[in-house]
Amino acid sequence: MIEIRDLHKYFGALHVLKGINLNVQKGEVLSVIGASGSGKSTLLYCINGLEPVQQGRVVVDGIDVHAKGTDINRLRQRLGMVFQQWNSFPHLTALENVALAPRIVKGKTRAEAREIARRQLEHVGLGEKLDAYPSALSGGQQQRLAIARALAMEPEYMLFDEATSALDPELVGEVLETMRMLAEEGMTMICVTHEMGFARDVSDRVAFFHQGVMEEIGPPEQIFTAPQSEHTRKFLANVR
Ligand SMILES: Nc1ncnc2c1ncn2[C@@H]1O[C@H](COP(=O)(O)OP(=O)(O)OP(=O)(O)O)[C@@H](O)[C@H]1O
Ligand SMILES: [Mg+2]
Repeated sequence: MIEIRDLHKYFGALHVLKGINLNVQKGEVLSVIGASGSGKSTLLYCINGLEPVQQGRVVVDGIDVHAKGTDINRLRQRLGMVFQQWNSFPHLTALENVALAPRIVKGKTRAEAREIARRQLEHVGLGEKLDAYPSALSGGQQQRLAIARALAMEPEYMLFDEATSALDPELVGEVLETMRMLAEEGMTMICVTHEMGFARDVSDRVAFFHQGVMEEIGPPEQIFTAPQSEHTRKFLANVR
């Protein structure tokens, strides 16, 4: 489980996260929505220790992410992350890209790592593209390759930061389908997204961020049909 307590994040004088409290249970899918600059990406970076925090804490399966002495590399193996645009290694095939981390970080043999990679690429529907180089893949396929890379580390959690927003519209669906499949398989996911259909259909809960505050959180039916906060209402009126 991910536990976030009174989390404050500053960039210099800029107060970007203003006391976030949030628990994400195993198996849960949480979508995070909100305007640009509201702190959504920063939240993900604080969860996986990419950004230091100034107050409060993040605890992942009992491990305090920002405590001195926490083995952050080990912790990150629990947290797969997929960004808006992932740059896979251009000189490696899809299979080699996915096999890299299991081999280097997890110490798998070459054969084991390749087997893991093959399985994960098939899992995301890229079984026909094992030997393709990233430049020969469509944007949607490249994002699915990024998902396979994250999955190859056998993470407990997947964090998605607008995994579809750099894609041409016709490629968004295949990546959302892959994310939906992971959700159905029981993966615990935090998805920062502008895809309201996905947030509504796939998430267990939706959190709305406004200027560094988690203004509202609840089941999708509540957030989308009966939002409590004026800011949520305004945001949703503009995105639909
Ligand atoms: N490395 C940084 N240094 C300074 N300020 C930053 C840094 N990263 C983010 N910020 C600022 O923190 C605020 C929150 O940014 P963040 O990227 O978390 O927003 P977001 O909700 O993900 O927005 P978007 O929807 O545009 O991705 C913004 O005002 C941003 O300019
Ligand atoms: Mg962002």
